[in-house]
Amino acid sequence: MKNIVVLGSTGSIGVSTLDVVRRLPGHFRVLGLGAHSNTGLLARQVRAFHPEFVVLSDEAHALKLKKTLGTRGRLKYFVGADAYPRVFSDKRIDRVVLAIGGSGALAPLWAAVERGISVALANKEALVMAGRLIMAQARRHKAEIIPIDSEQSAIWQCLFGQDKRALKNLYLTASGGPLRDYNAARLAAVTVRQVLDHPRWKMGKKITVDSATLMNKGLEVIEAMHLFGVKPAVIKVLVHPEAIIHSMVEFTDGVLLAQLSATDMRIPIQYALSYPARLPGRLAGVDFAGLGALHFEQPDFRRFPCLGLAYAVAAEGGTAPCVLNAADEVCVDFFLRKKTGFLDIPRVIEKVLGRHRARQNPSISDIFAADGWARQEALSVLSGRQKG
Ligand SMILES: NC(=O)c1ccc[n+]([C@@H]2O[C@H](COP(=O)([O-])OP(=O)(O)OC[C@H]3O[C@@H](n4cnc5c(N)ncnc54)[C@H](OP(=O)(O)O)[C@@H]3O)[C@@H](O)[C@H]2O)c1
Repeated sequence: MKNIVVLGSTGSIGVSTLDVVRRLPGHFRVLGLGAHSNTGLLARQVRAFHPEFVVLSDEAHALKLKKTLGTRGRLKYFVGADAYPRVFSDKRIDRVVLAIGGSGALAPLWAAVERGISVALANKEALVMAGRLIMAQARRHKAEIIPIDSEQSAIWQCLFGQDKRALKNLYLTASGGPLRDYNAARLAAVTVRQVLDHPRWKMGKKITVDSATLMNKGLEVIEAMHLFGVKPAVIKVLVHPEAIIHSMVEFTDGVLLAQLSATDMRIPIQYALSYPARLPGRLAGVDFAGLGALHFEQPDFRRFPCLGLAYAVAAEGGTAPCVLNAADEVCVDFFLRKKTGFLDIPRVIEKVLGRHRARQNPSISDIFAADGWARQEALSVLSGRQKG
């Protein structure tokens, strides 16, 4: 029985993780749960999974949860990002599922790898912000980072037992999102509702907007660079609308390995939980005959400039990817609150990047400083736009 902690348990990945746990009785014990604001769902999860502790990002939500649950057993509360080192000092933890959305995942990821804890990583923003530092820290403390993101999980599995020196290209597949066929005029007028209507994946709102701008794929390029120790030039993005091939690896001898499975995040989540074992799942397989064909096309960098911006910061390195990520988080938040248009997202990010002098070999405090700076800059560009 593995002792797991699920951080971000109230989100899309967190809920799917707990569903995997529920479907595999006797394999995983939920030692702790963590969330931000959805105390109603967290309370239901506490009642269903009986964790020993919860982690909340602030006192107000911790109080709300306490009120909902009353004096429930000996449930322990950890509050605030500063609490993660204490959370991870519990030697019984076998694996942490990091399903927190956005930059809020950096502090727990950092604390987990510092303690040498095995992390099943769904969050991509933390590696984008500080991948070089995190991977070095993970190596130093022998902390495994097991990808949950379906594309990274696919590449990771394709690389098992392979000679990395013979690696030629990584192919990151992209479903293309809901706006794949939209021309520039339609993109300019796109609504939040259209963007959130993803054809293949049901995900949290931020990643769904990132999928539509192709920033999600750009973040994955940077994530893959760190996870697999490769240069951005060897990472190719391929639009594959059926989302059955989750990614591929090409070797110098011309051999390609691909990982295929149904479009269901519970599959990579289950493997990230059970690894190195494979447990029998009860999820659907792939109906190849029903699908008939698989399709591929090049991404359109002109209509979806976020992908090009991500490649550019991946090559620049230092604090540049962190700035891209922070500006994107601010822009997506504005877009979701209907305060800015869809095409403003890449424009504002590009403007913020243009004002940034990337710092090479940043420390973790340089990263947090660059993150704060980029958020302020993005806010100032966006408020200028609103006025104009
Ligand atoms: N969804 C997918 O299919 C998918 C696939 C691959 C990768 N990912 C990545 O996985 C991460 C989570 O995605 P998601 O779609 O599950 O997001 P989501 O549905 O928006 O859920 C985000 C979770 O993080 C929690 N949270 C947010 N800020 C926090 C903070 N500062 N401290 C602690 N908890 C915080 C939220 O808590 P409350 O709800 O309680 O506020 C929620 O539990 C993202 O990085 C995403 O890119 C997701």
